[in-house]
Amino acid sequence: MGFTLTGPSLILRPPGPGDAEALFELASNPEVTRWFSWGPYTELAEPEAYVELCAQQREQGTQLDMMIVDKQLGPAGIIGLSEFSYRDRRCMVGTWLGADFWGTHVNRESKALIAHLGFERLGMNRIGAYSNPENERSTRALEAVGYVQEGVLRDWHRHDGKYLDVNIFGMLRGDWLGGEQAAVEVAIEGEIPPAFLR
Ligand SMILES: CC(C)(COP(=O)(O)OP(=O)(O)OC[C@H]1O[C@@H](n2cnc3c(N)ncnc32)[C@H](O)[C@@H]1OP(=O)(O)O)[C@@H](O)C(=O)NCCC(=O)NCCS
Repeated sequence: MGFTLTGPSLILRPPGPGDAEALFELASNPEVTRWFSWGPYTELAEPEAYVELCAQQREQGTQLDMMIVDKQLGPAGIIGLSEFSYRDRRCMVGTWLGADFWGTHVNRESKALIAHLGFERLGMNRIGAYSNPENERSTRALEAVGYVQEGVLRDWHRHDGKYLDVNIFGMLRGDWLGGEQAAVEVAIEGEIPPAFLR
């Protein structure tokens, strides 16, 4: 059975080969991938390779990317957990959405679903996030759902040979329990990929 997280208006599930075309549509817009080391997609082979990589990462327990599907409007983007430290019970969250979904319920609800998975099922105590200091939209979108900005990590990323600072944010389990994100109803069906249950 497939693994899904279902909320009031969204379903999160691992991306499969049948999602490559939708991913291509969503991330061939340069505005969407502007802050990333990859993209915009210019050929279908790129999201096809990404979907394969996701399957390997699920198998290895290194990264858990999920397709965000709006129950009415269809595929909206990707949200994922990465950089796991099981000793410290922490990981990072990252999100990208097709431009039509910016400024809608999708950022808030997808972050609530993935936070539920991280804190309640994977036993995390902290979920962190990064934003480029110039990406004010992303910074605001994280703060709006309860992530606390903790500082700036200097030269943290290297894109095209250039080092970039990032803002670092965190949400602790206690912050989550006391905030609006934990109040979102989530149903989990299917098996959580076993490599993440440590
Ligand atoms: C980051 C992302 C997931 C956020 O989702 P979103 O739906 O756009 O977020 P929201 O609309 O809920 O929140 C954005 C906030 O930034 C504000 N905002 C938008 N553009 C802004 C700008 N140029 N400067 C400052 N604030 C801005 C919005 O008004 C909103 O604030 P509000 O909640 O106070 O009204 C989405 O924009 C996206 O996929 N961007 C491209 C990929 C990306 O950058 N991902 C993040 C990598 S760190």
